[in-house]
Amino acid sequence: MPTINETSHSSDPCSCRRLHSLTMSSGFTDKLVYQNDFDPKDYLDQYYGAVSGIFIKDGYLDFILKKLHRAFTKGGVKGDSMIDIGPGPAIYQELSACEAFKDITAADFTDRNREYLERWRSNEPGLFDWTPALKFVCDLEGRSGKLAEKQEKLRKTLKRVVKCDVTKSNPLDPLVLPKADCVLTVGCLECACKDLETYKNVIKNLSSLLKVGGHLIIGSILGSTIFRCGSKQFSLLNLSEDFLKRAVTETGFAIEDLEVLPREYDKPLFDICNHTAGIFILARKLKDI
Ligand SMILES: C[S@@+](CC[C@H](N)C(=O)[O-])C[C@H]1O[C@@H](n2cnc3c(N)ncnc32)[C@H](O)[C@@H]1O
Repeated sequence: MPTINETSHSSDPCSCRRLHSLTMSSGFTDKLVYQNDFDPKDYLDQYYGAVSGIFIKDGYLDFILKKLHRAFTKGGVKGDSMIDIGPGPAIYQELSACEAFKDITAADFTDRNREYLERWRSNEPGLFDWTPALKFVCDLEGRSGKLAEKQEKLRKTLKRVVKCDVTKSNPLDPLVLPKADCVLTVGCLECACKDLETYKNVIKNLSSLLKVGGHLIIGSILGSTIFRCGSKQFSLLNLSEDFLKRAVTETGFAIEDLEVLPREYDKPLFDICNHTAGIFILARKLKDI
């Protein structure tokens, strides 16, 4: 399986050499490759674009939206503050959360993604159209048609967009926030962790942002090693359900809900992202470790 950005095109030979060595040093895409190469618009179109988006076609987006809706209603996950780790340029994962929390922080490593979120926050025209996801969540909440109100609510609740590196013991360093009631991370840790040991350490780092009794929510994909975004290719850590259960429980959490969404083989879709399933985990923090 290729692990270098072999489809990456750059007219700057120094930048090509730098990216090549960043990726090859560990065999896994380095975070600086996201900084240099990750295109928010390409990503949103390719994965969430109406009709042809990968996560639309395989049902992953609907699965995550339903699970999040349930967690933030019947699941009783609520409070003052939530931190969304690694949202990239996406907001769908906060659509239900903004009804359960007063204050949401979005935290991502990549400047371009944070800028994209700030542009969404200031209601800039011409950005990605989230209408299908907004409609889906409003329907789940029994507020069909209230799309504009929902966007407005999230814009008011998403208070800040900050820099984050999950591999740091304080992922928000140098910022120190009061401990949150919920830490949510969807589709980030499998990109940010080069091996399983790093993954477990990163869960501990995220736990440090969370109150005891607060909730950790992980949305992720299983069995994958690569994904493509535009003409670029990025590594993914190959995760299993068993490993995730152990990683979460051995770092001081009790799992309250876990569901796997199997994915049928489809060559064109697997060539873009080769995961075999989606997974949702809701866990409660039992202790500081
Ligand atoms: C696939 S993308 C975004 C996924 C998005 N949450 C979604 O659900 O579609 C992965 C994100 O992980 C972020 N990322 C990669 N390494 C990171 C790190 N060390 N710390 C924090 N974020 C990181 C990237 O900036 C990128 O936004």
